[in-house]
Amino acid sequence: MLTIALSKGRILDDTLPLLAAAGIVPTENPDKSRKLIIPTTQEDVRLLIVRATDVPTYVEHGAADLGVAGKDVLLEYGGQGLYEPLDLRIARCKLMTAGAVGAPEPKGRLRVATKFVNVAKRYYAEQGRQVDIIKLYGSMELAPLVGLADKIIDVVDTGNTLRANGLEAQELIAHISSRLIVNKASMKMQHARLQALIDTLREAVETHHPH
Ligand code: ATP
Ligand code: PRP
Repeated sequence: MLTIALSKGRILDDTLPLLAAAGIVPTENPDKSRKLIIPTTQEDVRLLIVRATDVPTYVEHGAADLGVAGKDVLLEYGGQGLYEPLDLRIARCKLMTAGAVGAPEPKGRLRVATKFVNVAKRYYAEQGRQVDIIKLYGSMELAPLVGLADKIIDVVDTGNTLRANGLEAQELIAHISSRLIVNKASMKMQHARLQALIDTLREAVETHHPH
């Protein structure tokens, strides 16, 4: 059995056409189903529906052989426990700092609200900048508006969410897209099969999302 961990929403929507190119099609619509294990047209391939931030955990521990995760999630997860053989070029956005439009740089320590705590620590440490990181789980844009933080770190695509809240993108931390990730033991034990799937997916990416 080959098990693929995915999150609902944009990653699922953009990954299904790529899997279809490899002949892997879910036998029920994962967006509608309440099932968390979804069989596919290939009897020995199944999908696991997990939270976006949980995908690396399932794959590193071998509960899934493969997964699809945003580079933002992978940067935050860290570690050397996963192979990352393929950029799927889906769910593209940018990881950025943002703050209130026109707000002056604070004099003392910068307060940064984000769900990307590890990324934030690393980013400001590289700059030699002292900061207080405030962990949030969502609605980061609110933090600067109510004085919880001076800045946020979040993913930005159109910038509409920032604009709607009187914030502006400031520094680029990383370009983001979703990556295929593979469990290290699976890659050894099922090398031929996984390599063939990766090669097929790579061709599908070239077709669906050419450079
Ligand atoms: P969770 O459900 O665990 O909180 P999430 O809400 O971040 O995760 P999604 O919104 O489905 O999950 O985002 C999945 C991935 O898509 C993110 O990790 C990021 O790489 C990318 N992404 C997030 N927002 C956007 C966006 N507005 N445009 C393009 N890609 C995005
Ligand atoms: C994500 C992210 C930002 C927003 C950025 O949220 O957390 O808030 O998208 O996208 P933008 O720059 O295009 O506004 P979420 O996935 O909840 O929002 P979405 O489904 O509207 O993209």
